[in-house]
Amino acid sequence: MATPLEDVGKQVWRGALFLADYLLFQRDLFQGRTVLELGAGTGFTSIIAATAAQTVYCTDVGADLLAMCQRNIALNSHLTAPGGGGVKVRELDWLKDDLCTDPEVPFSWSEEDISDLYGHTTILLAAEVFYDDDLTDALFKTLFRLAHRLKNACTAILSVEKRLNFTLSHLDVTCEAYDHFRACLRQLEQLQDGQLRFAVEPVEAAFPQRLEYERIRQLVGALAGRC
Ligand SMILES: C[S@@+](CC[C@H](N)C(=O)[O-])C[C@H]1O[C@@H](n2cnc3c(N)ncnc32)[C@H](O)[C@@H]1O
Repeated sequence: MATPLEDVGKQVWRGALFLADYLLFQRDLFQGRTVLELGAGTGFTSIIAATAAQTVYCTDVGADLLAMCQRNIALNSHLTAPGGGGVKVRELDWLKDDLCTDPEVPFSWSEEDISDLYGHTTILLAAEVFYDDDLTDALFKTLFRLAHRLKNACTAILSVEKRLNFTLSHLDVTCEAYDHFRACLRQLEQLQDGQLRFAVEPVEAAFPQRLEYERIRQLVGALAGRC
């Protein structure tokens, strides 16, 4: 049975488990850092990141989804790094240029959050958010915009399961959403925009598996660093 598109954030996707395993392997990289997750869904990867990070901004869209995410985070708050700021659930819509600061809107941003986000974030995370070409474009635009606004150099850690489909138009097995994701990564690397440069490298999937899921070879990770 297929998951309706509006509910895709209400389950933990295999790419999130793969990314979380990578975070557990690279704990030192996160120690004391400020992290932003895009399209967090259930909040699972943010919860794992918060076991080492100082603060994690866990973002997605829709009050209903974000409320569920907030409940998951509260249930797992005992896992957050001692002395850290924990996980903050906020709305961040890739289709909007700016963060919502209206205090009447649930999960909006305070001025203090925004200054912390732009002043301290060095790691961005996104798992399984590359399933629709328009949304993938919007996500990459968001990454680019954020890289401009962040004070420090940052690395985006991305994960996706390469899903193969048989299409009648090609009469063959294709993975169009994944191909579009790769094309966006190439574009990011080739961008010439003033001071900003990005370096992209694959995440080798040989790191240890600590969580329970099938480590299929279609799981792909990439690091996109703003130099
Ligand atoms: C396939 S789910 C992945 C969820 C989670 N990262 C995981 O791997 O378990 C894609 C997520 O992207 C979010 N999303 C879709 N459109 C978005 C947008 N315009 N802005 C922010 N998040 C969006 C969805 O709400 C959903 O939570």
